[in-house]
Amino acid sequence: MTTPHAIDVRNLHKSFGDNHVLKGIDFTIDPGQVVCVIGPSGSGKSTLLRCVNMLERPTEGKVFVEGVELTDPDVDIDAVRRRIGMVFQQFNLFPHMTALQNVMISQQRVLKRSKKEAEIIARENLDKVGVGAKCAARPAELSGGQQQRVAIARALAMNPDLMLFDEPTSALDPELVGDVLMVMRKLAEEGMTMMVVTHEMGFAREVADRVVFMDGGVIVEEGTPAQVIGDPQHERTRAFLRRVLHPEG
Ligand SMILES: Nc1ncnc2c1ncn2[C@@H]1O[C@H](COP(=O)(O)OP(=O)(O)O)[C@@H](O)[C@H]1O
Ligand SMILES: [Mg+2]
Repeated sequence: MTTPHAIDVRNLHKSFGDNHVLKGIDFTIDPGQVVCVIGPSGSGKSTLLRCVNMLERPTEGKVFVEGVELTDPDVDIDAVRRRIGMVFQQFNLFPHMTALQNVMISQQRVLKRSKKEAEIIARENLDKVGVGAKCAARPAELSGGQQQRVAIARALAMNPDLMLFDEPTSALDPELVGDVLMVMRKLAEEGMTMMVVTHEMGFAREVADRVVFMDGGVIVEEGTPAQVIGDPQHERTRAFLRRVLHPEG
């Protein structure tokens, strides 16, 4: 038997009322691959990511994660979702809890780990993302970059097989972006399977195995970073890259 794709999306459509947002998306990610999804605002990138872990129900098409069809009505969505870590633009930490508690809570509630075990794993992961010294801090006492790294630690503590990132650095002050990208780069080097929606072209160029350019709910082109960012074939891709690479025109 061949190893299944980590993510396999087939003819995915999603509409919100009359708004046909995803218009037949096909793509796969293999275990250990890093795929960056780029494209203008409103092109459906977040919706695609949210369909991959069924935060949104596709209108049509199929989504498989590690060979399990999530669009099968009988599938145990929660079991599959547990294999998927998700990191959002907004960090969504609990404001009344410390960094340590934020990383422990789902381990205890969802994975039923003991408090002691959850704490050990939380500390390991906070160390790993470089905020081990901030265990006792509440989110308001942390910079945006530190909060996002706590959010990444929280996802990693659940031992996911793959990670989805939705513009993880877009809400950060420019000087804090690098620390978060460094953590993501390290994860990629360790072999984590990652689907990353981002406007960070430097990161996409250096870390991605594949870049997918979306516009208007379709994949316009995809390929290696050298192909899609270095030598785009479609005018829509070129126009987008001009805007992100030279925002001041
Ligand atoms: N939950 C929702 N309900 C209604 N419309 C939505 C919802 N989520 C996204 N949309 C619409 O889908 C389109 C694509 O949005 P989105 O996937 O967020 O794009 P992107 O992440 O590329 O900026 C937009 O027109 C947006 O208004
Ligand atoms: Mg988005």
